[in-house]
Amino acid sequence: MTRRVLGIAASPRAGGNSDLLIQQALAGAESAGAVVELIALRDLTVGPCEECDICLTSGECPLDDDFPKVLEKLLACDYLILATPVFFMSVSAYAKALIERCQCLWARKYVLRQPLFPGQQRDRRAMLISVAGTKSEQMFECVTLTVKYWLDVLEMKHVSSLFVNQIDARGDILKHPAALEEALRLGQSLVTGHHSADKPEVVRLFGGLSGETALSGDDL
Ligand SMILES: Cc1cc2nc3c(=O)[nH]c(=O)nc-3n(C[C@H](O)[C@H](O)[C@H](O)COP(=O)(O)O)c2cc1C
Repeated sequence: MTRRVLGIAASPRAGGNSDLLIQQALAGAESAGAVVELIALRDLTVGPCEECDICLTSGECPLDDDFPKVLEKLLACDYLILATPVFFMSVSAYAKALIERCQCLWARKYVLRQPLFPGQQRDRRAMLISVAGTKSEQMFECVTLTVKYWLDVLEMKHVSSLFVNQIDARGDILKHPAALEEALRLGQSLVTGHHSADKPEVVRLFGGLSGETALSGDDL
């Protein structure tokens, strides 16, 4: 059975650090036999939710941009990888706009009580990648909470996260072999792993390019 992985790059910077990590993760998923697709939100127009509340009665978002194309892919895929830089302690605006637009799914599920996948039992899983320039460790908590709530709405199990801090300049992640290796491994394991635990596997590579500290474990 074909397993489809959708990668969503949410950095405004092409060839940036989260971009390079998601490419690695998708290579890992592909090596595990999945069919992969990468979209970069910066190449699309997906604006924020305008809170018109039309979706609360229709279950559909009336705004006219590229969101329906992305939504179709989000619903069709079996696995999702979101890669976002940390911007002001949270996800990028590109990621946040997409997440907000999924309010129409929230409306379908919780207001209209319509199943997302009628008559289907889906095993959907997701991986989160996030890169930050500074030392603070709390910023990944903000990213995690936002993404976790989104994945609940998408009916996806959050199985892993890769967090790397103190990486700032475009492409510096290439000097961080452990991050590239972990992205590849987690991408592979997204497709092949059993993920029976309720908590995601969280890999934190903190310490930047010098004195890397690898911290791994279950969290949040
Ligand atoms: C608008 C903006 C906001 C940022 N906010 C943070 C922040 O809150 N915490 C932090 O550690 N780094 C912050 N950074 C640094 C980026 O997270 C860092 O450069 C990261 O490597 C960018 O990843 P990318 O190359 O995938 O875009 C910010 C950068 C920009 C441009």
